[in-house]
Amino acid sequence: KDIKIAPSLLSSDFLRLAHDIQMLEEAGADSIHLDVMDGHFVPNLTFGLWILKAIRPLTKLPIDAHLMVTNPEDYIDNFAKAGADVITIHIEATVHAHRLIQQIKSHNIMAGVSLNPSTSLSAIECILPDVDLVLVMTVNPGFGGQTFIENQYKKISDLRKLVDAKKEVWQRKTLIEVDGGVCHDNATKIAAHGADILVAGTATFQGGSEYYKANIARLKGQS
Ligand code: DX5
Ligand code: ZN
Repeated sequence: KDIKIAPSLLSSDFLRLAHDIQMLEEAGADSIHLDVMDGHFVPNLTFGLWILKAIRPLTKLPIDAHLMVTNPEDYIDNFAKAGADVITIHIEATVHAHRLIQQIKSHNIMAGVSLNPSTSLSAIECILPDVDLVLVMTVNPGFGGQTFIENQYKKISDLRKLVDAKKEVWQRKTLIEVDGGVCHDNATKIAAHGADILVAGTATFQGGSEYYKANIARLKGQS
């Protein structure tokens, strides 16, 4: 099955963002992963709405906004209007996940829910029928360049079994996206456990822009 690669801009060269995005598109990236961090939900502060507005006109690739923020309800409408194709909220950041997923879907874009390594699948059980995508965190969110947390393989395969068992009932194909510590050594194994999309920051950008195409091809298992 063809695995899709979503490079995370967190690892890109912020002084040459437009160039990087063009190179990623040419290198075969399937979407652009935007790591929005507010310094509260995670111990880091990256970028917000203005970066989305700046990059939207630069690429036709889907932009996947990963909201690592408290009060995600405050961001959804503006990010949807600014052109995000997927908005993913953290189940740990709200007590009203159903309402937030409906808020995202009201903009006719894809709705994702993300769970941290220490959050069990049971925490998203009741929202699963409503989401288009589940973002499984395989590092503790906040930074790029961290090591894949091995015990998350089982969560990925359990989730795959769960969504496959329900896809007729739910009448949807729920995408599984894996995020954090993805690299050339584990990409194939992660895909084999049921991932559809791999977020890759460090692994995409390593070596510089002349390596983006080779890095993405390797992550797809095409080399
Ligand atoms: C971490 C972010 C990830 C991270 C991935 O909080 O959600 O998307 O940027 O970076 P790598 O691929 O370097 O682990
Ligand atoms: Zn992310």
